[in-house]
Amino acid sequence: MSHLLLVSDSTDLRQRVADAARARISVIAGQPLPAGPSQLFQQLGAGTPIPQVIVLDAAGGSDDALALATRLDVECPGIAVVLVSEQPDTLALAALRAGVCDVVRPDAETPELRTVLARALHTAQAAAQPVPGDPAISGDATARGRVITVVSPKGGVGKTTVATNLAVGLARTAPLTTVLVDLDVQFGDVASALSLDPDHTLLDVTRGPASQDSMVLKTFLTQHPTGLYAVCGPANPADADAVTPDDVARLLQTLASEFRYVVIDTAPGLDEHALTAIDQTDELVLLTGLDVPGVRGLRKELDILRDLGVAFDGRHVLINLADAHSGLTKADVEATIGTDVDLVLPRSRAVQISVNQGVPLLQSDARDPMTKQLRKLVDRFTPAPMRPAETAAPTRTSGRHRLRRKRLTR
Ligand SMILES: Nc1ncnc2c1ncn2[C@@H]1O[C@H](COP(=O)(O)OP(=O)(O)OP(=O)(O)O)[C@@H](O)[C@H]1O
Ligand SMILES: [Mg+2]
Repeated sequence: MSHLLLVSDSTDLRQRVADAARARISVIAGQPLPAGPSQLFQQLGAGTPIPQVIVLDAAGGSDDALALATRLDVECPGIAVVLVSEQPDTLALAALRAGVCDVVRPDAETPELRTVLARALHTAQAAAQPVPGDPAISGDATARGRVITVVSPKGGVGKTTVATNLAVGLARTAPLTTVLVDLDVQFGDVASALSLDPDHTLLDVTRGPASQDSMVLKTFLTQHPTGLYAVCGPANPADADAVTPDDVARLLQTLASEFRYVVIDTAPGLDEHALTAIDQTDELVLLTGLDVPGVRGLRKELDILRDLGVAFDGRHVLINLADAHSGLTKADVEATIGTDVDLVLPRSRAVQISVNQGVPLLQSDARDPMTKQLRKLVDRFTPAPMRPAETAAPTRTSGRHRLRRKRLTR
């Protein structure tokens, strides 16, 4: 059954809309209007489906109503908005530009409302159809994006630097098709690395309406100027306990069905969240510095993953913070871990500056040896065709349940 949301304080209008609509109706207060779609959906009760049609009463001010309509148009393409205004003729052009489906007067009779609402429902249903040719952003349930997880046994070796640059680099190849998830749930610093001030964090996207509907989830993501979406870590480390591995698994599944690339930053070691992410991962990026404890840690991590039955076609071993004076070479690392190193990222002052400014190197295009290597990393993942869900991640092996039970940290 279709669902209509009326945003108005008028009981009279509510009665006529109820008479006119052949749909389930929810009502929320019209004054003040919610600032955006996520605030609007938060006012719906738990378990209430997302509406196909929203009737927005502009009695409190047409500017606010048009601003909300514009955001609904951009962020929720499967919802049609009908505006209620005393001056439909004056507002018509602005309403058209805001993507509004129709404008009616507050005293419109039931038969007129019936026609308008039926047309709006038809528009919403048409807009909700998948867009041919780009399942990554159409929500096609049969396609799945590529999940890339960045891990390291030790802290401070550049996971966040690599994850943010990789995500920005991928987003720049195809804006709005990449999402970066901060799974360093206690001390994640993706928001700082990207200069983001998120309205919603991991806690919000794994709770309430965003966890039940992929369209609502998108409105809870934080947008970066490069066209990247981000799920930032909770502001308070104490909130981390509220995010369970099952929450994370559900979130990653939904994001992989909506985005071409899902890039995941993790905490050091293999905590529950990292293991849950690895369980859904197609491409694992493993990082180490050029120091003996770090390299030995990486060898142990590779052993553990092998013992858990996790094998990847897409496994990328990176040395970061490389310099000529460390006393270790790439060949030493390869001999210790028993596998090839795919890329060496140099120690670079430009990284420190970019982290402090909150502008990743691949956003500013700073000329630097590190930028060059980061571009090579991005090239390893492009282009990424969406694959049918049933054939996704063919080499992720048996560990699905075992992984969750293990808790392995430094
Ligand atoms: N190639 C590099 N050259 C110079 N500095 C670097 C390089 N890579 C990372 N850094 C610096 O090292 C520090 C740690 O980097 P980053 O936060 O990315 O590591 P991390 O593995 O995510 O750490 P944590 O485990 O604490 O989350 C940062 O100050 C960053 O600027
Ligand atoms: Mg980090």
